[in-house]
Amino acid sequence: MKSRTAVLSDPLLDRMLLSPDEIADKAEELGAAITRDYDGRDLVLLTVLRGGLIFLADLCRHIDLSLTMDFMAISSYAGGGAAVRITKDLDDAIENRHVLIIEDIIDTGLTLNYLMGVLRQRRPASIEVCTLLDKDARRIAELPIAYRGFRIPDRFVVGYGLDLGGRFRNLPFVATLKDEVMG
Ligand code: PRP
Repeated sequence: MKSRTAVLSDPLLDRMLLSPDEIADKAEELGAAITRDYDGRDLVLLTVLRGGLIFLADLCRHIDLSLTMDFMAISSYAGGGAAVRITKDLDDAIENRHVLIIEDIIDTGLTLNYLMGVLRQRRPASIEVCTLLDKDARRIAELPIAYRGFRIPDRFVVGYGLDLGGRFRNLPFVATLKDEVMG
């Protein structure tokens, strides 16, 4: 495999927080747990674009069940607040199905808290959350997390789906940014 010197030496990056191997091991572990828990259930993996896509792609290949996947996109309303606008809705109904939301990171929890409220109105059989990263120091809205990859410190992180202005999502690891980047 070619070396990753080009991305690792990006002047905005501070250090690698989670290596590709650590992430891969965690995806395998979580996938095995999900396989056990959802055996015999009608499972749909739901991902919020765009950050969760990379984790979903790796995680789903460790879930040894018949399942479907669906995608949503949202954007915050101008002026802030907890409400979000759905810019791309699910393609399929979730009534009576077991929904597992796959996220790259939960930070304040406001996005997911709002979204889960909207989705519960569609009467799924159950709705749970699986997140790779949990920045719990910044939590405002408490929400139950059934599957958690890693608790991380209150630092801005990029890579493995997480971006800065749209960049860095393709890094195969999670890295912190230099303090001066975020001011
Ligand atoms: C990230 C992440 C969650 C949200 C979590 O998405 O994927 O959806 O932020 O933040 P919260 O817990 O504070 O609400 P982002 O808005 O960065 O969009 P992206 O997935 O397109 O990168």
